Amino acid sequence: TGGRPAGGPAAGFPLARPRRLRRTPALRRLVSDVRLHPADLILPAFVKEGVSEPVPVSSMPGVVQHTRDSLRKAAAEAAEAGVGGIILFGVPAEKDARGSAADDPDGIVQLAIADLVSEVGGSMVVMADLCLDEYTDHGHCGLLTETGDVDNDATLERYASIAVAQARAGVEVVAPSGMMDGQVGAIRAALDGAGYPDLPILAYSAKYASAFYGPFREAAECAPQFGDRAGYQQDPARSAAEALREVALDLAEGADAVMVKPALAYLDVLRAVADAVDVPVAAYQVSGEYAMVEAAAANGWVDRDRIINETLTAIHRAGADLILTYWATEVAQKLRRA
Ligand code: PBG
Repeated sequence: TGGRPAGGPAAGFPLARPRRLRRTPALRRLVSDVRLHPADLILPAFVKEGVSEPVPVSSMPGVVQHTRDSLRKAAAEAAEAGVGGIILFGVPAEKDARGSAADDPDGIVQLAIADLVSEVGGSMVVMADLCLDEYTDHGHCGLLTETGDVDNDATLERYASIAVAQARAGVEVVAPSGMMDGQVGAIRAALDGAGYPDLPILAYSAKYASAFYGPFREAAECAPQFGDRAGYQQDPARSAAEALREVALDLAEGADAVMVKPALAYLDVLRAVADAVDVPVAAYQVSGEYAMVEAAAANGWVDRDRIINETLTAIHRAGADLILTYWATEVAQKLRRA
């Protein structure tokens, strides 16, 4: 008589029950489709000139400024865990206005690059951050004019020289992070001119002027001595369209992969970029993101392991193919055991 079959659902009862696939761990595991993989993680690491022991970074529990030796060991451990890459930040003993240590062939980062290529090259990609703030005494990402502005075009010449120095040391990817206009093009031209046409550039394309970098500035000893970086890094109060423009410019200048930074507070930007491009997209889970979780976890306020996994999963879900995270080795080890 057109009624429901006996034993069928009563009228108004939900036919669709999303909970069916959430019932057991095995079902959830079967249907999950956002999975972290060690090969997609990149470990940021600091190497300091002139220290005989690793120096703990107080605002980033578990992170240190490495000696060359401890860096080799940390890289070997990361490679063993299957981490895909390591990105180096050098902390020189001497800083000056032009950041001379940044392109010194005997500068700390060049030495560390060579160390790591011999230690882990082939199993993990050795990358270097390409910027001036760790090397300048004023802490800005570029050369200054007499009035204290960052001189975009003069800075590009420095970046070009740093790129070549890192290339000669054996770096496998350069990652310019200074947010100067034209930096990718200047670096590409310099690398090509010096005989490195095949060296990829991972561009920090959409990089915001962020309070989340606070702990990093202790780790890299690079807090600006005056002013801030708002004159060159992006304003968080602008919509993602500006990020797309930065990304498009970098790709037109020859970037091979692009980055959004920070990560968790910029997932909308990350999604927009991931939808717009066909190159690998990286996201940087930055120092402040790390420090907040470690601090809350140390107080017993959040479940550390679950928060780490949840934030990284969210970043991946939002479109990051690659994730830079200070937890890379630990997470990779756990993924291997899972
Ligand atoms: C600049 C650079 C910074 C970070 C990476 N590259 C600092 C800045 O822009 O002020 C921040 C990374 C982090 O906070 O973890 N060389």
